Parts: sequence; C-alpha cells; structure tokens
Amino acid sequence: MGRSASVFQALLVFLITIIETQWSSVSGMYCADMASTVYRPHSVTITEFGAVGDGVTLNTKAFQNAIFYLNSFADKGGAQLFVPAGRWLTGGFSLISHLTLSLDKDAVIIGSPHSSDWPVIDPLPSYGRGRELPGGRHQSLIFGSHLTDVIITGANGTIDGQGAIWWDWFHNNTLNYTRPHLVELMYSTNVVISNLTFKNSPFWNIHPVYCKPSYCRARYNPSTFEFAKHRRH
Ligand SMILES: *[C@@H]1O[C@H](CO)[C@@H](O)[C@H](O)[C@H]1NC(C)=O
Ligand SMILES: *[C@@H]1O[C@H](CO)[C@@H](O)[C@H](O)[C@H]1NC(C)=O
Ligand SMILES: *[C@@H]1O[C@H](CO)[C@@H](O)[C@H](O)[C@H]1NC(C)=O
Ligand SMILES: *[C@@H]1O[C@H](CO)[C@@H](O)[C@H](O)[C@H]1NC(C)=O
Repeated sequence: MGRSASVFQALLVFLITIIETQWSSVSGMYCADMASTVYRPHSVTITEFGAVGDGVTLNTKAFQNAIFYLNSFADKGGAQLFVPAGRWLTGGFSLISHLTLSLDKDAVIIGSPHSSDWPVIDPLPSYGRGRELPGGRHQSLIFGSHLTDVIITGANGTIDGQGAIWWDWFHNNTLNYTRPHLVELMYSTNVVISNLTFKNSPFWNIHPVYCKPSYCRARYNPSTFEFAKHRRH
C-alpha cells in the first residue's frame, strides 16, 4: 500500500512562547530543561476514565472526560494525563491550559478511520474557508485554542492518524470538508511538543496557528517539517 509510505516520523521539540513571559527570560536553554521544570501536582491515567487500549474501542469520551476532570486542577499547578502502553483509538479531543499529555514509550494514540469522529469546526479566519473545500474543516485529532502552559510529550510514544483513508477521500474527491491535522494549536502560548513520533497524518502533522510571536526548537527528520504538507512517496 503506497500510502503507508506516507509514514512520517518526527522527533520534535516545539516551543511557542510570548515575549515577556518567564520562558523568554530563559530563551537560551533547551526545551528538555524546560519540560522537566514543569511539575504537575496531579496526575491521572486514561484508563481511570474507562479507556481501553485494544486498538478497537473508541476512547474519545474517555479523553474528553479525563481532560474535563483535569480542568479543576488548572489553577492548582495543572495536571498530567498519562497514556500507558497500548493502542488508544480516538476521535478528536481538545486540550486545556496547564496540562501535560504524556505518553508511555509503547503508547500509540490512533485516529479513528471514521470522519464523523473528527468534528467539523469553523475555517481559520485568515482563510475564511477550508483550505481544500469551502465551509468548515475537520478539527485536528489533538486540538487547542487560547491555551497556555501545555506540554505534549512522551518517552517516544506515537501519534498515528491512520491517515491513508483521508488521502483516499482526498484523491477520489469524496471529502466533504478540509482534512484534519494531527495536532493544531490556535492562539496559544507556552506549548512544548517533544519526544513523540507523529505519523500517518490525514493532512499536516503539527499546525500552530496565530501563536506568534513564537519560539521554536525542533529536531525532526530533514524530509519533514511541522508546517510542511504531508508528503506522499
Ligand atoms: C526527551 O527524552 C529524553 C530521554 O528520555 C529526556 O532526557 C528529555 O528530557 C526529554 N525531553 C523533553 C523535552 O521531554
Ligand atoms: C524513537 O522512535 C524512533 C522510531 O521508532 C526510533 O528510530 C528512535 O530510535 C527512538 N528513540 C528512542 C530514544 O527510543
Ligand atoms: C473513495 O475512497 C474511499 C476510501 O478508500 C472509498 O471507501 C470510496 O469507495 C471511494 N469512493 C470512490 C467514488 O472511489
Ligand atoms: C460526505 O457526506 C456524505 C453524505 O453525508 C457521507 O455519506 C460521506 O461519508 C461523507 N464523506 C466523508 C469523507 O466524510
């Protein structure tokens, strides 16, 4: 299957910050140091919210409920949502501020192959329409808007969009809305994405937008770039 060659691995350290924050005062340091300075006093595991890591059970509600619950710790130093080893199928979910989403090295978050599990949201104001089609666009698998102090990390865990079907829909013109990214953050600051592998995105891998001014340290496969369109080989 040629499209599976669209697999795309990035070891990526990404940081967005704003001027005059505590981070900008330490702009010379590595993100690795930064991530480790953020201690979250509260942590839960996705299984506590009924998630099943069998690659088949749809865990969207578990992610949504866990994050909703963790919102109550946002003003208490924030919280961590841990995803243990397993294959965690999910539709799109949204992050909150003061959150660490942390994956075990053998954890794989898998995007649902059903487009209805990827909500349709408004187009970006600067486009005024979906990039590929008029109207809305599918929300990214992991989404956030107006957030601060967010860490998405793992000991080399994986986020796999199972995007092949989206590329089929794109190529046979049966999409109804513009395709989703794996991660999109809008109007956000102090975001670190590190030590994860992103692959099989329906569209782009990581899309920070309206997050300026931004500060970025990234390590990734030279053939890939977080803003670059997902390639087919
Ligand atoms: C990435 O993983 C390495 C090895 O486990 C660790 O030393 C480093 O602190 C991590 N970096 C970040 C930004 O999480
Ligand atoms: C992370 O995963 C990639 C792809 O599987 C692998 O090439 C790399 O060696 C891994 N890195 C670590 C620190 O385990
Ligand atoms: C388009 O691709 C999808 C996904 O592979 C497939 O289910 C569908 O039948 C195709 N439609 C057409 C008109 O080729
Ligand atoms: C597009 O909409 C039609 C009609 O609602 C639906 O049957 C089809 O599954 C949708 N296609 C995609 C790729 O979501």
